[in-house]
Amino acid sequence: MTGKYRPRRITLRDGREVTLRAIVEADATEIVQAFERLSAQSRYYRFMVHKRKLDDAALQRGVHPRPGLDFVFVSTIPAPDTIDIVGAAQYVQAGDAADRTCEFAVTVAEDWRRSDLATKLMASLVRRARHDGYETMEGLVIAENTAMLALARKLKFKVEPVPGDATVLRVQRALQTMR
Ligand SMILES: CC(C)(COP(=O)(O)OP(=O)(O)OC[C@H]1O[C@@H](n2cnc3c(N)ncnc32)[C@H](O)[C@@H]1OP(=O)(O)O)[C@@H](O)C(=O)NCCC(=O)NCCS
Repeated sequence: MTGKYRPRRITLRDGREVTLRAIVEADATEIVQAFERLSAQSRYYRFMVHKRKLDDAALQRGVHPRPGLDFVFVSTIPAPDTIDIVGAAQYVQAGDAADRTCEFAVTVAEDWRRSDLATKLMASLVRRARHDGYETMEGLVIAENTAMLALARKLKFKVEPVPGDATVLRVQRALQTMR
């Protein structure tokens, strides 16, 4: 199922406001800038490898989600060069075409943490994944990423070990049908 997502303003717990909307191709430059503002640890937690640069193939996949299969939300604020991206959350189909499981990732800029932004991004992501017909959402999290594990537990994801790899944990939750 496809469908447009209308941009909306959201107010965070600390009173700051962001716009939440679907990613567009023109966001590529801002995505690179947002990546470059992240700390080395945040990049590692997000990509699970030490990345110094966002490779172009990954960037292009990110700004061209496949309708009905992948989705990327960005949260933006006004900036002198138009906007800054201060948060992003995405899912992609996990496995093959028949798979009703999607894999998520979420990142919030260092200055915007603990304001509920990731929670709001994830809530929108879960709703959108249901809309696309997914039954399960999952993700891999570096075992020492306490912030993401706490967020996952708060959002009712189950946290499980990955057999044979103590460095990561799998988080997973069912996406009940919306009525
Ligand atoms: C994980 C991450 C997305 C959380 O973003 P955030 O906007 O700060 O999260 P929220 O403000 O919505 O926090 C929601 C809950 O998560 C938990 N949490 C978030 N950060 C935490 C921290 N540093 N320590 C402990 N718990 C934390 C808390 O339960 C929090 O609720 P509370 O503030 O009411 O206590 C952010 O830290 C981040 O971008 N990290 C780097 C990238 C990453 O690790 N991505 C995950 C890979 S999939």
